[in-house]
Amino acid sequence: MNIPPINLKAQFKLVQKDILKNIRKILSEQKLILGQYCSLLESTIAQYVGVPSAISCANGTDALILALMALDIKEGDEVITTPYTFFATASSIVLMGAKPVFVDIEKESMNINPELIEKAVTPRTKAVIIVHLFGKLCDMDRIPKIGEKYRIPVIEDIAQSLGSRNNKGMSGSFGDIAALSFYPTKNLGGIGEGGMVLSKRADLGEKVKKLRVHGMGSVPYYHEMVGINSRLDEIKACALVAKFPHLEAWNKKRIGNARFYNKKLKDLPIVLPDIKDDLTYIAHQYVIRVQERDRLQEFLKQKGVMTGIYYPLPLHLQPCFASFGYKKGDFPIAEETSETSLALPVYPELKKAEKDYIVKSVREFFNR
Ligand SMILES: Cc1ncc(COP(=O)(O)O)c(C=O)c1O
Repeated sequence: MNIPPINLKAQFKLVQKDILKNIRKILSEQKLILGQYCSLLESTIAQYVGVPSAISCANGTDALILALMALDIKEGDEVITTPYTFFATASSIVLMGAKPVFVDIEKESMNINPELIEKAVTPRTKAVIIVHLFGKLCDMDRIPKIGEKYRIPVIEDIAQSLGSRNNKGMSGSFGDIAALSFYPTKNLGGIGEGGMVLSKRADLGEKVKKLRVHGMGSVPYYHEMVGINSRLDEIKACALVAKFPHLEAWNKKRIGNARFYNKKLKDLPIVLPDIKDDLTYIAHQYVIRVQERDRLQEFLKQKGVMTGIYYPLPLHLQPCFASFGYKKGDFPIAEETSETSLALPVYPELKKAEKDYIVKSVREFFNR
């Protein structure tokens, strides 16, 4: 068998008729950027997440940058975040001229440790960026309270978690502002780059709306602030509009796949994701932790099972952040997780025979 880490072709088959119809309409009308499909996507996602403001933009990295710009993050400021995430979570902070203050993660959830957030607060702390990594909701009972206690805005990086929720709300509705990515491999993935900034605060939403078009308000070519160009194309928005009605079903299939693996692999010397009987984890990635990670990855590759390593080097050890003075040993849980984590294919289009084969191959590695 040959099992890719993700199967976008299979997903496209399901939605291609709708997408192609929408694209024909866009091309015939020639309203190419920030038109009806962008507006429809924005209102759809705002309603789904349960926030009043959703502003589409060019990608998830820009969504983080726009969120930080809206909060006036600048040189000399500190922003607390996790070292165990995709690069953009921290690079967006650095691009603002601010300092990323990393704190370690929780062993079980692999998300930022709320206790350590509180310990890292200083008078210079101007925001915290939390990441619901792999689709697993962070501790949303404690983190918003910490934000309130210290009057620090909470930014949610929901690039990997659209649809994960607890009984109080959806990821993206807890913090002051949230950044979403529609990168093709995400649970709601586009046909190119795409992103969105969500907020429950009207003032931040209004500001982001201007910042994504060079700081222009309703009067063209009058700039109230210095913004960026981060508009979304209609063609990309229309594909997301066509895919959105499938998101809940896709997420459920992902969770089903993750549960299947947990059941079939539970007796092996592997740390499995902690899956509760709810929707706090939507299985963007199914990440196991294994001491012999690299050997298992190579073994599975030989068997035709493609896996991923998210992420091989925690952000505090990235060469480009050396000037911040972090060193190996600073965040032992993030470091150990980086050395042992391996993502098995978990996408909704996986067939039963493929899942069985993946389980069989992993078991073979341990029984060899
Ligand atoms: C956690 C996280 N943050 C931010 C991003 C950046 O999103 P994009 O690739 O759309 O710029 C990604 C996606 O790659 C991500 O996984």
